[in-house]
Amino acid sequence: MSAAPEERPARAATTARPAPAAPAMDLDALVTDPDTRIIVCCGAGGVGKTTTSAALALAAAEAGRTVVVLTIDPARRLAQSLGLVELDNEPRRVETPGADGELHAMMLDMKRTFDDVVVAHSTPDRAQQILENPFYQSLSSSFAGTQEYMAMEKLGQLRASDQWDLIIVDTPPSRSALDFLDAPNRMSRFLDGTMIRLLTAPSRTGFKIASAGFMFFSRIISKILGGQLLRDISAFVAALDTMFGGFRERATATYELLRRPGTWFVVVATPEPDALREASYFVDRLSAEGMPLAGLVLNRTHPPATTLLSATRAEGAAERVGEAGAEGAGLAAAALRVHAERMVQAAREQHLADRFTSAHPEVAVRTVPAAAGDVHDLEGLRVMGEALTGPDADTPTGTPRTRVLPARRG
Ligand SMILES: Nc1ncnc2c1ncn2[C@@H]1O[C@H](COP(=O)(O)OP(=O)(O)OP(=O)(O)O)[C@@H](O)[C@H]1O
Ligand SMILES: [Mg+2]
Repeated sequence: MSAAPEERPARAATTARPAPAAPAMDLDALVTDPDTRIIVCCGAGGVGKTTTSAALALAAAEAGRTVVVLTIDPARRLAQSLGLVELDNEPRRVETPGADGELHAMMLDMKRTFDDVVVAHSTPDRAQQILENPFYQSLSSSFAGTQEYMAMEKLGQLRASDQWDLIIVDTPPSRSALDFLDAPNRMSRFLDGTMIRLLTAPSRTGFKIASAGFMFFSRIISKILGGQLLRDISAFVAALDTMFGGFRERATATYELLRRPGTWFVVVATPEPDALREASYFVDRLSAEGMPLAGLVLNRTHPPATTLLSATRAEGAAERVGEAGAEGAGLAAAALRVHAERMVQAAREQHLADRFTSAHPEVAVRTVPAAAGDVHDLEGLRVMGEALTGPDADTPTGTPRTRVLPARRG
């Protein structure tokens, strides 16, 4: 179903110098544009997807839009500051004094969303049968990909309500980037599986297949899976029969929704090799699927306070000041060493960013400096929102926000 990755960008040699300049990403224009209806934040685990989603949602609400952010498992203090003290699976208004628009937040409850789908698409008796089925219970809370699927299901529901100017979707920390984009189709593939079809054939067609072959087959399967589990699966899929078409149709509709104009993906990464490798993978995958990419948010960077003093000169100065032994020399030397370390770290982060841009020169980048502590309240989100949406060159050192360090000349 994925498009042939013909227009996949050719990977540039990573050693090529100088690295191409990454295009700037105008997230301010993106979140305030009335045509932008869905933003999906994705990336590796722990890089700041949830925080970025919440910060963009707040920025859009402050710009006057009615926004809902669908979060997945936010850190507890951030959840509290968004008013998400309990998991109720419905948007709740967040108090945002002074904002022209409205911010609503909800936390995905995977099982509740699945239960709602079952109830909405079958008769009360059938729904009861499914909800009580042990196989359904384990599928709805632990089947690989269920969370991704339910995030998409919930997105479909929110979009259908037409109540929101903008929906921002945080995504689960998928171990494999594939999981997320595959989710809408995984469920219908699962229901389509040959074994499931065989198992349910008797109850589907209304008569029992008592052939020796089938009995043999089901005895083997029972041995492997356990008889009770087999009966649970059978009963579950039979009960799902009424919803069979519905699942597939909605999965396809949601997938298409992601490709429609008005949807944008933001890939989030930290300046670390693993996170950027995952980001590269997302970028390739999104392009292969024809999903619109806004760009890469490089989160938690460490830009130095000044770029006028190199690491080498700061180290040398620290030594000389330390040797001079004047009053306050120890403190000055320590400050110079901190600066030297920061310059080295920034250079490392810039190198990783350059490598990404060499491989994906078309992908816009926005760097977001690490805050001193966790981002866990509206003020923290506002500061992060400014870093995400503020003017491109509005940094203390004048370094454009596509970079951690200024570009080398020549
Ligand atoms: N720019 C930043 N400065 C400082 N801390 C940050 C920044 N961005 C995120 N954090 C912190 O990093 C931690 C991880 O962030 P977050 O929960 O948003 O990541 P995630 O990608 O959603 O994680 P998961 O994959 O587990 O869902 C949080 O404690 C958050 O407060
Ligand atoms: Mg998260």
